Amino acid sequence: MKKVRGEITLPGDKSISHRAGLFSALRDKESYFTNFNYNQDCTSTLNCLEKMGIEWERTGQDSIKIKGFHLNDWKKPDKELYAGNSGTTARLISGILCNAPFESILTGDESLSKRPMKRVIDPLELMGAKILSNQGLMPLHFQKVKKTKAIKYKLPVASAQVKSCVLLSGLFAEGETEVIESKISRDHTERMIGLNKNYNSDGTLSVFSSPDIRIPDLSMKIPGDFSSAAFFIVASLLLPGSEIIIKDVSLNPTRTGLLTVLEKMGAKFEINEKQTKPEPFGDILVTAQNLKNIEIPLDIVPNIIDEIPVLSILASQSDGTMILHGAGDLRHKESDRISMITGNFRRMGMDITEYDDGFEITGPQNIAKSAQIETKDDHRIAMAFGIANLITEHEIIPDNPQCADVSFPGFWSILERIIED
Ligand code: S3P
Repeated sequence: MKKVRGEITLPGDKSISHRAGLFSALRDKESYFTNFNYNQDCTSTLNCLEKMGIEWERTGQDSIKIKGFHLNDWKKPDKELYAGNSGTTARLISGILCNAPFESILTGDESLSKRPMKRVIDPLELMGAKILSNQGLMPLHFQKVKKTKAIKYKLPVASAQVKSCVLLSGLFAEGETEVIESKISRDHTERMIGLNKNYNSDGTLSVFSSPDIRIPDLSMKIPGDFSSAAFFIVASLLLPGSEIIIKDVSLNPTRTGLLTVLEKMGAKFEINEKQTKPEPFGDILVTAQNLKNIEIPLDIVPNIIDEIPVLSILASQSDGTMILHGAGDLRHKESDRISMITGNFRRMGMDITEYDDGFEITGPQNIAKSAQIETKDDHRIAMAFGIANLITEHEIIPDNPQCADVSFPGFWSILERIIED
C-alpha cells in the first residue's frame, strides 16, 4: 500500500496572490511579495493589470515587485481584458473597472463565460455603475460613469468574491459602503486593506469601505495555499503509515474550515502557528487516521467550499454517512462540481446520492474499477481524483491532469515526491 511521507512547502495562496496584485496596483508605490503564486489564474490578474499600465516584475522564481498608480492614472486598455478561467480575477476587477476613467471590456474562457456575473453586476449597478453583459454573463462592458455612490448591501450568496468586489468599488464610491454577510466567507480583502468590521446583534457581519481608506504597504511573504494543502492532508489521513509536515501554510480561520470538519470527524493534527498578521500561517503535521463521517454544519460550508471535492474522497473511505447541504454554489464553480463529483464516483463504481445543494456518501466503500475522470478542465476535480488514485489498485486517471496548473503548478511532482511504496 502506498503512503505519503515528508515535508512540503506550497505555492502561495491563490486568493491572497490575486489580491496582492489588485490592491498593489491601486497604490502609488512599489509593493514586494515572496511566495507569489504564478499559476494561470493569478497570471490572468497580472496580465489584465499590465494592460492598464500597472508595472510588475518577476524578481525571482516566486517573488514579484508591483508598481501601482491611483486609478485615475491607469490607462485605457487598447484591447479586451482577458480573465481566462479565473472567477476571482473577473469578479474582483469588476469592482475597480466600473469606477475607472475609461471604458473596458472583460472576457473569459469557455468555463468563465458560463459563470454567473449578475451577482456582481447587481450591486455595482445599485452603486450607479453602468455594465453591459450577455444576460448576466461575460463579456462585461464597463462604461465610464461620473461617480459611483456607496451602498449598504446584504450578500444574497455567501461569496468572498462578491464581497470583495463591492468593497473595492466602495474605495471609489461617494460615502461609506457596507457589505453584510450572514455566513462568514474568506476575509483576505478586509485583512489586507485593513477595513473596519462589526459583528451585528443578529449574528451577521458588516464590513465597511470608503474613499478615505489608504491601502497600506502590503508587502509580505504569501502563506502557502490551504486549499492546495487540503489534497495532501487528505492523502496523509487516508494512507496508513503516512506522516507529512506542511510548512508555512495559511492558517486563516476563514480558510481552514476543513481542519474543523476533520476534527469533528475525529482527526488530530499538530499545528504550530508562526505568524498571525497580516495573514496567519504555520506548520501542520498530519498522520494517517480512521475517521467517522458527519453531517457538515451549514455555517462552515463557505469555509470549505474549495475543499469539498477532495473531502468527498475522504468521506468515501470513512465510517458512516457524510451529508452535505447548502453547497449549491458548487454548481457555479469552474465546473458544476456537484455533478462532477457524483459522475466521477459512478465512473469508479461507487455509490453517492446527489442533492441540488450537496451530496450524501456512505463509507467505507471500495473503488470498484478503473476510470478516466472527467475534469471539464477543472483543476480541483483533477487533483481530488488524483488523490483517489492513491487508495486503489485500479487506475484513476484524470482526462486532463495538466489543468491543475490553473491553481497549483507542481501539484503532480510534489505528490510523486512524497509517495512511498
Ligand atoms: C475566492 C472565493 C471563493 C472561492 C474561490 C476564491 C476568493 O469563491 O471558491 O476559489 O479568492 O475570493 P466565491 O466567492 O464565489 O465563493
